Amino acid sequence: MPLVTTTKMFQDAYVGGYAIGAFNVNNMEIIQGITEAAFEEKSPLILQVSAGARKYAKHIYLVKLVEAALVDTDLPIALHLDHGADFEVCKSCIDGGFSSVMIDGSAGTFEENIHVTKQVVEYAHANGVVVEGELGQLAGVEDDVNVENHSYTDPDQVQEFVEKTGVDSLAIAIGTSHGAYKFKPGTKPQLRFDILDEVARRLPGFPIVLHGSSSVIPEMVEKINTYGGAMPDAIGIPEDMLRQAARGAVCKINIDSDLRLAMTATIREHFALHPSDFDPRQYLAPARTAIKEMVQRKIVNVLGSSGKI
Ligand code: G3H
Ligand code: 13P
Ligand code: ZN
Repeated sequence: MPLVTTTKMFQDAYVGGYAIGAFNVNNMEIIQGITEAAFEEKSPLILQVSAGARKYAKHIYLVKLVEAALVDTDLPIALHLDHGADFEVCKSCIDGGFSSVMIDGSAGTFEENIHVTKQVVEYAHANGVVVEGELGQLAGVEDDVNVENHSYTDPDQVQEFVEKTGVDSLAIAIGTSHGAYKFKPGTKPQLRFDILDEVARRLPGFPIVLHGSSSVIPEMVEKINTYGGAMPDAIGIPEDMLRQAARGAVCKINIDSDLRLAMTATIREHFALHPSDFDPRQYLAPARTAIKEMVQRKIVNVLGSSGKI
């Protein structure tokens, strides 16, 4: 099956009360682990590539690996640019075979965000590619926003943004954040479901996206800490909160950190138990299995996308 866009995936997910997992990919083992899980679960899938991933692996290697996964699994897969910073990087991915791009203009003014997003949408739609925009800024990696200081999405802006830009989906900030430290230690994880509900009311039937949605599974953090790592206070979004969002307007849930943690925990454990191993296959094979098991867990516990193809 060729690459697909997210259009039908999101329509079905919205109506069906589930979400599609968008997993970040950087190498062959990650792509294989994710796609093997989706294949076994019969789940539609978004594989997403950041600027950092393109720099690390090279665009062409990632595209060819995803093409191999399509041949191998026959799954409906969308290949998506994660956090496109400007028109040029979006154009490069559209020209280079992606079926979906994100233009992240959220750091600019509302007017600047509309301007660059509209420019990307015009080029993308002319080439059969769909576009995700973002309004509001997540705490964590986005400039000048820290964990105490989310710039939550303003529901008053969403209709105008979607109408003026023509975007196909919208990422919003309701308290999720990138990375493994999403809430202060000792505080109760909270998401602004009031904002999500209001956005959904203003944009009926329109697909909403959540970034920064790893749950930072405690067993993985514990394993990392047991085998020489130092990740005190790592904390994520509780799985039941994400499941609640997926039942409503949220059609795409972005997960990267949980895969990184699963891979790292497994490799740390491997070397602790087998200190003389030096064949990369000896530690990358269990790491790939850990990715697969983590994605299956997400499909079942968070996304609800099992059996949806
Ligand atoms: O949102 C960010 C993703 O986790 C990708 O991270 O830019 O380090 O590849 P990266
Ligand atoms: P996590 O760091 O929570 O996995 O979020 C990933 C993400 O939003 C990629 O765009
Ligand atoms: Zn993100």
